[in-house]
Amino acid sequence: MDSIVIHGGIPLHGSVEASGAKNAALPLLALAILADEPVIYHRIPHLQDISTMMTLLAYQGADVTFDDQNRLHIDCRNADKPEAPYELVKTMRASALVLGPLLAKFRRAKVSLPGGCAIGARPIDLHLRGLEAMGATISVEHGYVTAEVPDGLKGAHIVFEQVTVTGTENLMMAAVLAEGETILDRAAREPEVVNLADALRALGADISGDGTDRIVVRGVKSIHGGDVFTIADRIETATYLTAGLITGGDVTVTRSNPADLQAFLRKVEQAGALVEIGDDWIRCAVQGQLQGVNMNTMPHPGFPTDLQAQFMALMCLAGDSSIIRETIFENRFMHVQELIRMGANIQLDGHTAIVKGVSKLSGAPVMATDLRASAGLVLAALAAEGETVISRVYHIDRGYERIEEKLRILGAHIERRSESENFVRGVRFVDEQQ
Ligand code: UD1
Repeated sequence: MDSIVIHGGIPLHGSVEASGAKNAALPLLALAILADEPVIYHRIPHLQDISTMMTLLAYQGADVTFDDQNRLHIDCRNADKPEAPYELVKTMRASALVLGPLLAKFRRAKVSLPGGCAIGARPIDLHLRGLEAMGATISVEHGYVTAEVPDGLKGAHIVFEQVTVTGTENLMMAAVLAEGETILDRAAREPEVVNLADALRALGADISGDGTDRIVVRGVKSIHGGDVFTIADRIETATYLTAGLITGGDVTVTRSNPADLQAFLRKVEQAGALVEIGDDWIRCAVQGQLQGVNMNTMPHPGFPTDLQAQFMALMCLAGDSSIIRETIFENRFMHVQELIRMGANIQLDGHTAIVKGVSKLSGAPVMATDLRASAGLVLAALAAEGETVISRVYHIDRGYERIEEKLRILGAHIERRSESENFVRGVRFVDEQQ
């Protein structure tokens, strides 16, 4: 199993380019199921979660191919198996995103329940209730959701009990081919939802209101093929900006979108960082000791839960205390014990962490427990004195494209110890080097 070894204490400087967003790309890939023609994807990141989604579509009978310009082509015209098996869903909860499109297209689907995951229970009950409201009959047996709607989905007024990102995306995709109008109230406003709506519109869907908490989808007869563009990864962007700040450096991320990161940028500015933005770049630099600031995670446009661990790592070295509250997931503090092993002073009280800034962290062997927790540990390691070995880095590979290479560009001493595997079942790579 791979581990990442970091010799910390080196201020990071320079510029790196943001990759396409994993959380935007996953629903974009699922939309291919709806289309009557091939969909061509631009800026798809090479990540484990993306490979899992490609494998899942190939399993369903789709033709999935990278071309020599690194564009991904997905042609679902011959897809004939509206199923998502446990083996694939268990490694990635977002596999549930195929449920809405499969049901819309095939009028039946069988998708494994994702089960629990490291950061909390994360059920998909809200996805299922929404599909039921659209006329589907759903049963859960032997760990699988079986859904059927012989006469096709019908538009409905769905009010989410709680803001759910993939739930909003799943139902938005289901509604595209439904008969009549669907209204999604208390919809997620995340940029990835807007990216999906933009892509669906480009292929012929009738959607409005995305980016607000009320999305209206008017069903259309069919969705054609075409080009689809993935937005910049805001979580990856903020992680590299934090890498600059935590090491006392100065980092710019290009091809990024400052508008998607306002809550994060406000917080680091409040902590005393210098923040500069352009149309498609963001620069963060230290200008003296950073101060502790309090933060609550919130649905967009609030502070993203996917940046909580990284921000906590930064606060570990701030001038005074900060209070960090996790309001989205019940068990998203698994990085805390590892940060404490590196010398951090953190007290946990339920969903709240009280972080007292320390003057230094020290390298230690630590274990990655989930994707974003791992990113927090990488950041702490970059700032820590001495060597940190982070094991179980497959978590990081689910969401950070070429992380060692990008950090090395910024001056980090980082290496991977391991044998790596680049094998995706059912996917043809025309030229892997491109
Ligand atoms: C997405 C992101 C993930 C991010 C999260 C919150 C993707 C692929 N993943 O995950 O990186 O951390 O949004 O921004 O985009 N819930 C229910 N029932 C449901 C659905 C959700 O109770 O049917 C709860 C969850 O347990 C959680 C909260 O709602 O407590 C928000 O979860 P949700 O927004 O659905 O997260 P994901 O879409 O899975």
